[in-house]
Amino acid sequence: MTGTDRHRSRTALVTGGSRGIGRAISCRLAREGALVAVHYGHDHAAAERTVKEIEADGGHAFAIHAELGVRGDAARLWAAFDRGLTEQATHPSHGVDILVNNAGITLPRTIEHVTEDDYEQVFAVNTKAPFFIVQQGLGRLRDNGRIVNISSGAARSAYPAIIAYSMTKAALDQIALSLARQLGPRGITVNTVAPGFTETEINPTLRNPEVRRSLAKASIFNRLGVPADIADVVAFVASDDARWVTGQWIDATGGVRLGL
Ligand SMILES: NC(=O)c1ccc[n+]([C@@H]2O[C@H](COP(=O)([O-])OP(=O)(O)OC[C@H]3O[C@@H](n4cnc5c(N)ncnc54)[C@H](OP(=O)(O)O)[C@@H]3O)[C@@H](O)[C@H]2O)c1
Repeated sequence: MTGTDRHRSRTALVTGGSRGIGRAISCRLAREGALVAVHYGHDHAAAERTVKEIEADGGHAFAIHAELGVRGDAARLWAAFDRGLTEQATHPSHGVDILVNNAGITLPRTIEHVTEDDYEQVFAVNTKAPFFIVQQGLGRLRDNGRIVNISSGAARSAYPAIIAYSMTKAALDQIALSLARQLGPRGITVNTVAPGFTETEINPTLRNPEVRRSLAKASIFNRLGVPADIADVVAFVASDDARWVTGQWIDATGGVRLGL
């Protein structure tokens, strides 16, 4: 199988697949042959744009909506996935091969300024939602499938300005460790990919040239990451080439932590 069709005949679900890093992951998996469910929570137009871009590139995708971070989110997401899949003439069978838990929000506040509501919301979206998405996806996940959780370099670094966010990702990281062991007998791998500072809309301060320069300097490559930097890693981890890699936390920060 060539690099360009290594995901052919596979079905992928990318949460937050409509924008930013998730969009790049959706496009990359689709380019390599996967049928991609492009999930979004609020911005329908962005999801449609991503689906159209994939189709224009010769790929197959459909958008699914479910707001995460609210009670019953995982069940609604999978119901939307099942409905969307039923409408795909080329992939009539239910089930998923690649689940990428990418959707996330940030919380740029030091500990003094984090309210209980903030704390609950960031954990609900970044940690609780992926947990129950995985739980309720287990019956749909085919043998030799892939679970990839998008964490953050912040989970293993000291950034007081985003303490609660970092905690959500540190907790998320445990999923790969525990589940890799449980799902290994089915040939399913579970891994974590941890981006560093990446050019997306999640961090509005990146519009400030000063901030951009200083965050770029954090990488030993002296630049900010772009979504494709992360999507390329996810595409590998999701492929058969990575069948022997499981339970791992893969640093995709551009060497940010090497400088600390
Ligand atoms: N960018 C970085 O510097 C960076 C660094 C480390 C880790 N990460 C992680 O990478 C992942 C993607 O981040 P990004 O930078 O690509 O963010 P982004 O550009 O803001 O995109 C976030 C995606 O998640 C979806 N989403 C957010 N909240 C949601 C909710 N409550 N319900 C459903 N969907 C929701 C958004 O869809 P809607 O807009 O439709 O809700 C969108 O598709 C996140 O887990 C983030 O923590 C990012």
